[in-house]
Amino acid sequence: MSNVFSDAPGALDAELAELINRLPKVELHVHLEGTLEPELAYRLAGRNGLALPFGSVEEIRAAYEFSDLQSFLDVYYAACSVLVTREDFRDLTLAYLARAHADGVRHVEPFFDPQTHTTRGIPIADVIDGILDGLAEGEHLYGITSGLILSFLRHLPVDSANATLAAAEPWLDRIVAVGLDSSEIGFPPEPFAGTFARARSLGLRAVAHAGEEGDASLVPRTIDALGVSRIDHGVRAADDPAVMQRLVDSGITLTACPISNVRLRVFPTMDRSTIRTLLAAGVAVTINSDDPAYFGGYIGDNYRAITAALGLTADDLHRLAANAIEGSFAAPERKQELTNELARAVCR
Ligand code: HPA
Ligand code: ZN
Repeated sequence: MSNVFSDAPGALDAELAELINRLPKVELHVHLEGTLEPELAYRLAGRNGLALPFGSVEEIRAAYEFSDLQSFLDVYYAACSVLVTREDFRDLTLAYLARAHADGVRHVEPFFDPQTHTTRGIPIADVIDGILDGLAEGEHLYGITSGLILSFLRHLPVDSANATLAAAEPWLDRIVAVGLDSSEIGFPPEPFAGTFARARSLGLRAVAHAGEEGDASLVPRTIDALGVSRIDHGVRAADDPAVMQRLVDSGITLTACPISNVRLRVFPTMDRSTIRTLLAAGVAVTINSDDPAYFGGYIGDNYRAITAALGLTADDLHRLAANAIEGSFAAPERKQELTNELARAVCR
């Protein structure tokens, strides 16, 4: 397997590594299904009497070599078959939170894809209640606050997205936003305008993946069609100064995922990431993990890898962490707490 860290020009400075450890982190782009580690997949398969098409955990990890977004999504959706019961979704969520806690995550806004499960006959109640169980336990154990994001699969028909939103209505007071993910090429945002308008009218915020494999023009098109307040990935925006200016003027946050971008070949190497260009233009970019179990790095690894590859400074790290707090959907008091904690972390 290629090593995403091998293209870093130099070792990470020890003081910056310490600062990264201390930063109170807010994660705004992580798919709960993408946190399914092979060991847990095996445990759940055993518990549910299911066979996995791999002989060992090592074989699974060896198969995680991706040529593009679709080659990853095929594996990711297939692995979800081991998630069956409410308890499975609770265990998945809690395992992620334990790992996130070790990385200094204080607040998280994770995605889940209900259609990946309801299309297999899993009741949406078991999916959402299981995740909410895990989030509540994680807050109790680790103090990590959260806002759950219900994400629609863009490769499925709009009617399916509308039915999913309707089915989730009993839980909407515990869901902060809707999102849009899956294959970007060939599945434009515009058909989902009505779904997103309905979600926003119900009081939900909106985010969507764009400008990952798609070009910079998908970023303003997604903002216009869906009324989003964040763009997930969005790193191709750096190819067009007018698009970057639009992001700055509208205060829209980008949730970048550096290791994901190298593993899915959005960029050939980490040092080709556009994050420096985005930071220099004043775009509110943030650092996140996307699907850490598949890409081999949680949020701390992403901070370390991009810092080493681009030679980011302590000021850059402060800005990235502050962008995540400001771009979150946390309550104003929680944002203030996190901002105070960040100020203490950078002033040592
Ligand atoms: N892009 C689109 N859909 C996804 C991703 C991604 O990076 N990860 C999980 N679903
Ligand atoms: Zn994603």
